[in-house]
Amino acid sequence: MSILVAADFDDGEWQAWWPALVAALPAERLVRSVAEAGADTIDVALVANPPLGALQGLPHLRLIQSLWAGVDKLLADPSVPVDVPLARMVDPAMNAAMAETALWAVLSLHRGFFAYAARQRAAEWRAQAQRRADEITVAVLGLGQMGRTAAQTLARHGYRVLGWSTRPCAIDGIETYAGEASLPQVLAAAQIVVNLLPLTPATRGLFDTTTFEQMQQGASLVNLARGAHVVEADLLAALERGPLRHAVLDVFAVEPLPAEHPFWSHRQVTVLPHIAAQTDPRTAAQIVARNVQALRAGLGPHALIDRRRGY
Ligand code: NAP
Ligand code: GLV
Repeated sequence: MSILVAADFDDGEWQAWWPALVAALPAERLVRSVAEAGADTIDVALVANPPLGALQGLPHLRLIQSLWAGVDKLLADPSVPVDVPLARMVDPAMNAAMAETALWAVLSLHRGFFAYAARQRAAEWRAQAQRRADEITVAVLGLGQMGRTAAQTLARHGYRVLGWSTRPCAIDGIETYAGEASLPQVLAAAQIVVNLLPLTPATRGLFDTTTFEQMQQGASLVNLARGAHVVEADLLAALERGPLRHAVLDVFAVEPLPAEHPFWSHRQVTVLPHIAAQTDPRTAAQIVARNVQALRAGLGPHALIDRRRGY
C-alpha cells in the first residue's frame, strides 16, 4: 500500500518534510500524487491544506492524518470522506511553541512593550506605570492541547489565569469555567483574552460586537487560533471606539493578510504571519509514524477528531 502526502507546501517546506517523513517511515511507500501510486494502493493520506477534492476516489483509504493541529478546513471540505478516521497533529513541541507565543503576547501587553516599540519609532522617551503579573487577569479560551499548556505557562509566570472550555475540568493554578453561559463572566474578569479555541460552527465569529462589549475597558485580544473566530469589522470598531486597547493577531479571515488590509498599519494591532505554533517536521514525522504503525498493527490511531464536536 502507499501513503499519499497531499500538502500545499512550498519548495522549502517539501525539503524539510519529505526527508523527515521518509526517515520516519522507512518501510512505507510515500507518494506526492495519486497518479504516482494509483488510487487503489493508497490507504493513508498525510495532509496539510490539501487542494479541495484531493482525498476523493481513494477506495482503500483507512486514515487521514492532518499535519496541522486544526482541522477546520478539512471538515469544511465536503469531498473529504466522512467514514475514514481523521487524526490531527498533537505534538508537545507545538504546545510549547504556542505557550511561548501566548506568554510573549501577554507579557508585551502587560508591560506595554508594543506601546514602547511605537514610541521608539516616534523618538518618544516616556515611561508608564508598572504593574505586577499577579495584578493582571488573563482569560484563556480553549483548554485543549494548546490552551492548557499556555494557561499553565502564564500561571507559572504569576498571572491570574481563567480558563474556558466546553466541559468542566480542573487544572492546578487555573480558575476554570465551562459552557456558553459562563463566557460573559470570564470575558468581564480579564484584561487580556487569549483565544485558543478550535474553529467550529459554535466558535465561528465568537468575537463580535456582543462579546467585545462584555470585555473590560482597555482589554486586549490575542488571537492565536483561527481568523474566522473574529468578526474583523467588529474588532476594528472595538479598537476605535472601545473597549479594546490592542489586538495581537496571528491568524486572519484571509491569509496571507492582503497588503491593503487595515490591520497592517493599525497602531493598536500587532500582526504575525500565522506562526504562533508551526508544525516541526522533526517531531511531527515521528508522531505520524507512530499513528501509521498503530494502524498497520490493527490498533486505533491517536488524536482522532470527533466529527460531531468538530474538533
Ligand atoms: P484541542 O486540543 O482540540 O482543544 C480545544 C479546546 O477548546 C478544548 O478545551 C475544548 O473544550 C474547547 N472548546 C471547543 N469548542 C468550545 C466551545 N464552543 N466553547 C468552549 N470551549 C470550547 O485544540 P488545540 O490543539 O488546543 O488547538 C486549538 C486550536 O489552535 C486549533 O484548532 C487550531 O485552530 C489553532 N492552532 C493555531 C496555530 C497557530 O500557529 N496559530 C497552531 C496550532 C493550532 P473541551 O476540553 O471541553 O472539549
Ligand atoms: C496551525 O494553525 C495548525 O492548526 O497546526
